[in-house]
Amino acid sequence: MSDSPRKPSISSNRWILGYLMREKAVFLPSLMALFLTAILSLAFPYFLKELVGSPSDALRRSIDPALILERSNRIVLELLAVLGLQAVVAFFRVQGFIRSGESALNNLRSDLYRHLLRLPMSYFHEQRAGALSNRISADLGVVRDTLLNTVPQAVRQSVILVGGLIFIFISSWKLSLIMLSSVPVVVLAVAFFGRKVRAYSKSAQDSLAEAGTVIEETVQGMADVKAFANEDFESRRYGSALERFFDVASRGARSRAAFLAFIIFALFGTISMVIWQGARMLATEQITWTNFASFILFSIFVGASLGSFPEIVSQFQQTSGATERLRELLDAKPERADGDDQAVLRGAVEFEQVSFRYPSRPEARVLDDLSFAVQPGQRVALVGPSGAGKSTVLSLILGFGEPAAGRILFDGREAGEISLRAIRSQMAIVPQEVLLFGGTIRENVGYGKTAATEDEIREACRLANATEFIERLPEGMETVVGPRGVKLSGGQRQRIAIARAILANPRILLLDEATSALDSESERLVNEALERLMQGRTSIVIAHRLSTVRHADRILVFNQGRIVESGTHDEMVAQPGMYRLLVETQLV
Ligand SMILES: Nc1ncnc2c1ncn2[C@@H]1O[C@H](COP(=O)(O)OP(=O)(O)O)[C@@H](O)[C@H]1O
Ligand SMILES: [Mg+2]
Repeated sequence: MSDSPRKPSISSNRWILGYLMREKAVFLPSLMALFLTAILSLAFPYFLKELVGSPSDALRRSIDPALILERSNRIVLELLAVLGLQAVVAFFRVQGFIRSGESALNNLRSDLYRHLLRLPMSYFHEQRAGALSNRISADLGVVRDTLLNTVPQAVRQSVILVGGLIFIFISSWKLSLIMLSSVPVVVLAVAFFGRKVRAYSKSAQDSLAEAGTVIEETVQGMADVKAFANEDFESRRYGSALERFFDVASRGARSRAAFLAFIIFALFGTISMVIWQGARMLATEQITWTNFASFILFSIFVGASLGSFPEIVSQFQQTSGATERLRELLDAKPERADGDDQAVLRGAVEFEQVSFRYPSRPEARVLDDLSFAVQPGQRVALVGPSGAGKSTVLSLILGFGEPAAGRILFDGREAGEISLRAIRSQMAIVPQEVLLFGGTIRENVGYGKTAATEDEIREACRLANATEFIERLPEGMETVVGPRGVKLSGGQRQRIAIARAILANPRILLLDEATSALDSESERLVNEALERLMQGRTSIVIAHRLSTVRHADRILVFNQGRIVESGTHDEMVAQPGMYRLLVETQLV
């Protein structure tokens, strides 16, 4: 139990290292340069020792001041030369580290994104809006920090630590042992407080992320927040999320403060002990002044590098948490990628005793033993109360989910034999609520066929009855529509979606008709455009308007995941039943 979280953290770090090693042409030389600069940085205390130490011993007694001065000059020049060399090498290693680190991160980022794009819809249904992208960018931020700052820091401090230790042992092994005797105490303190601090910092991060989600959600749904005059409610909700964060953060601060106070005491306590002991040794001539000076100078370096380790270790631990989450994401099972990729659909769709449950709500059977068949070019309307499972049928056709039982067939072939790409690229959907991407109208229409020419786009807009309103916009096709197309009305957005579908030229058309009451003029324009779009294609239409339903070749009446009636409009109004009820109450 206790060692199981360790293992992944080691392999997670190795996993990130794998990304760095892809950049080894830049990364390894930078690493070498880092070693070099770290070793060179030990030259500083070394030369200082030479400057401070020597005159007071042998030289001071016998040799004249001119010689001492000359010696100092030489030492300083040597020191400057070494510092210059260090600066040049440091320039290249900083540049190299950043370049290889950012490039490794870019590879990681695009691997993550490519994987994200291949995850099944069910994965996204289970995520809270915004939580996923927030988490990914926060985790990537931590990894980035580590690659660009902590890794170089860790290497550098280790080299300084080891080199410094060698020098202080040469200067005086006795004093070194006294100093090192405090290390176990510090290590124990780090282990004790570190665990607490980490636990608090993790839950602090979590509660801050929670507070962030409040902002994210309200920004997205700002119209609702305002319409319900719930600004105060939301600001209280955010306030209490912040309070929870503050609470955890303050409790973490106590541990952190205790830890720091203890370390500072232990550090300076040890230094005092060492200097006291050193003074005694100096008095009894057990140590030379040069060695004592050298010991103190190198100790400062060793102490500083030791002091940086708790931070480095905690950063690595944070990173392994982040990389584990990122790996979990990469380990999430993607959609199937198998099946015939060249299949050309003729447009027949058949459901054979299909049952379906959403993975997030396994207890609710959303579709129950559903069977129907649509011939190529036919128009089928799905009607029925909200929640009956109509949209779910469309999403199963698109391969967004797998039936729990039964089969879905295209042209008599089982859906699983055909690749999802082949299936989806021969379908188009005009959804209930059209979300436009942030971009121009041209880009939004062009999404139906990314390689479309200007003429094709214009023609699609014309067929979708969209040209007129587009031309009235100040910048025409170049008008930028917001992330949610806020500048366009529902009917206009729908016609953009229709133009997009026309451009895609699908074999099978899926329409989840808007319930939003369009004004009669837009309804006429939208209907006309839809008629053109449906011409010569298999169309499966979720319909709320009698005008659409009436012309369907067949109507399937849904209730609670089952088809309760089917037939043409004329057949079904002729007899009592759910359809006639829907028509009489004007629900269709
Ligand atoms: N992503 C989802 N996760 C869980 N349950 C869902 C999901 N989408 C829809 N449902 C449920 O499935 C049932 C059918 O929904 P839906 O197919 O959207 O109905 P309709 O389009 O006929 O109104 C509803 O009870 C709905 O709550
Ligand atoms: Mg629906």
